[in-house]
Amino acid sequence: MSFHFGLPSAELLARVKAWGAKIIASATTIDEALRLEAHGVDAIIAQGLEAGGHRGMSLVDDLSTQVGTFALVPQIVQRVRVPVMASGGIAGARGVAAALALGAVGVQVGTAYLLCPEATTGAVHRAALKSEVARHTAITNLFTGRPARGIVSRLMREPGPISDAPPAFPFAAAAIAPLCARAESQGSGDFSPLWCGQNASGCRAIPAAQLTRELAAGIAG
Ligand SMILES: Cc1cc2nc3c(=O)[nH]c(=O)nc-3n(C[C@H](O)[C@H](O)[C@H](O)COP(=O)(O)O)c2cc1C
Repeated sequence: MSFHFGLPSAELLARVKAWGAKIIASATTIDEALRLEAHGVDAIIAQGLEAGGHRGMSLVDDLSTQVGTFALVPQIVQRVRVPVMASGGIAGARGVAAALALGAVGVQVGTAYLLCPEATTGAVHRAALKSEVARHTAITNLFTGRPARGIVSRLMREPGPISDAPPAFPFAAAAIAPLCARAESQGSGDFSPLWCGQNASGCRAIPAAQLTRELAAGIAG
């Protein structure tokens, strides 16, 4: 599996499709969804503003263009012919059912899996996800140079979460790594990227397969 921000060249897309691979890409706005469809992607993930981690913003940098899941999914469904998956803030079977009711054919869930034993989430990050601090998240570009949502930490609070001159992706991560490691060795998440969406209520330390079955109950219901 390969992750890429934005669209690769038309030649590369054509080569990958010639292998028989299906291409699924994230859109955070209607314009991004239309562009992805025009370039032949097979399915689109409509990633709402609530989503944890990196944002699939590929056309714009302006965060004011970003739309919540409940508003984004039906508008993208209305405008494209390829299947749409909903992403951002979905944390349980009811969220899955709501996404399907909005016209999505499936969902992409990230945050809810972060406490599963299979996840590589570190101890400091796990502790933050289990605590009330997970209720306050923001989008920041300080950790990698690209906008991503995480729990508000000291690093995000003091200079503010958005820098107008971040190192290009992914070089900021290397610059911050020693500070992050030192703080984490003392049990502090002050300088850690604590990726988390706006709805951490689904985070439980249960096997990923069990969580998936619980989420899938929203498809039948
Ligand atoms: C720890 C973590 C890392 C992520 N990393 C990426 C990434 O590298 N690229 C990307 O497009 N999305 C990334 N995401 C976003 C997910 O693909 C997905 O859109 C998001 O988790 C869905 O919203 P939710 O977190 O509210 O479930 C990440 C999410 C999390 C929680």
